[in-house]
This record gives sequence, structure tokens and C-alpha cells, in this order.
Amino acid sequence: MKAFQKLDDFLDFCWVQISRGKADKKSPARHPTFVTSSLDGFPNARTLVMRRSDRKNNQIEFHTDTASSKMLALEENPHAVIHFWLPKVQLQIQMDVDVEVKFGDITIPKWRNVPSNSRIAYGTIPSPGTVIESPLAYDHSSDQKRFAVLVCHIQSIQLLLLGVKHIRACYKKTTNWQGEWLSP
Ligand SMILES: Cc1cc2nc3c(=O)[nH]c(=O)nc-3n(C[C@H](O)[C@H](O)[C@H](O)COP(=O)(O)O)c2cc1C
Repeated sequence: MKAFQKLDDFLDFCWVQISRGKADKKSPARHPTFVTSSLDGFPNARTLVMRRSDRKNNQIEFHTDTASSKMLALEENPHAVIHFWLPKVQLQIQMDVDVEVKFGDITIPKWRNVPSNSRIAYGTIPSPGTVIESPLAYDHSSDQKRFAVLVCHIQSIQLLLLGVKHIRACYKKTTNWQGEWLSP
């Protein structure tokens, strides 16, 4: 178990783990949980593939279908939470983020990099979440107009490392990621 004495080292460790999510398809950091506030008041959590992480600009990026319900939720409230649990290193990461939604022509350069067999995730008919008659009563189409990029601007990061003695810390953009230890 790692025993961090310095807040900066703990945050560096977090970012190394997150960047593995992009580099290593088997890393659990590839599949965080993305939580929005839904219109009926219940938080809404779902797994998404992390498409990009950028420590320098404090960003995490996801791709989704413009017709999915998370888009409506984000229109109402762009604040969201990203949650990672990385069992090998016993690290939980929680992030508060502000989500910038990009769709339309601006996403064309990213769309070009989406493999053709993955493009069918953007354009399901009827829209995701629609009630259907039977399990396979839907069609796939690949539609660039249904492709959205969610750029998550990280506002805070909370870390919990499990061990003989747990370690917990919180870092905020407003304090330039200086960090504070928290009682676990
Ligand atoms: C392993 C895994 C990866 C997923 N990756 C994505 C993804 O990258 N983008 C996406 O929109 N949905 C992805 N999904 C589906 C979402 O979890 C969710 O069901 C879908 O986006 C509809 O969500 P919503 O109705 O809450 O908007 C993934 C699901 C799983 C299980």
C-alpha cells in the first residue's frame, strides 16, 4: 500500500491512474460512472467510456448520443459528478465537473476518429430510453448529427485510498489544486 505524506504526490498518483484509463483498455479508469441531476430529482448514474483526460486543462471527455436523456439533464443543470473505483490500487476518485456540451459541425474532426463500427452508437432509432415492443425492436444508424462531445471541466477532486490506515484528500480548482487532508 502506498503511504502518501504529500498532497501533491497523492494528486499525481490520481492522474497517473486516470491516464491509464485511456492507454489501457483493461483499466477500470476507462469506465467511470457519470452522474447527472435528473429532472425528477433522482440523481442519474451511468457508465461511460472515458475518451480523453487532460491534466493540464483539468478536463475529462466523454462521447454520447444527443438524443440520450443525459443531454436534457445537462441542459437543465450542467453540474455533474464523475466517479472512479480502481480496485487494484484501492483508490476512489470523485470529481465535481461543469459539463460543456459540443455537437454539430464542431465535432466533425472528432467524429472522423470514431471507428465506423462504433459510430452506430450515435443514432439508435428510436432514441435511447424509448419504450419498445420487444428487446430488439430498434435500428442502428450512424449519424454525426447525433454525436455529442461532453467536455467535463473539473472543479474539484476528492481521493480516498484504502489501506491499513485510509487516506483521504480534497483538491479544488479555486485553490489551484493545493489540496487538504480529510478525515476518512
Ligand atoms: C461499459 C459501458 C460503456 C458505455 N459507454 C458509453 C459511452 O461512451 N457513451 C454513452 O453515451 N453511453 C455509454 N454507455 C451506455 C450508458 O451507460 C447509458 O446506458 C446510455 O448512455 C444512456 O444513458 P442516459 O439514458 O442516462 O442518457 C456505456 C455502457 C457501458 C455498460
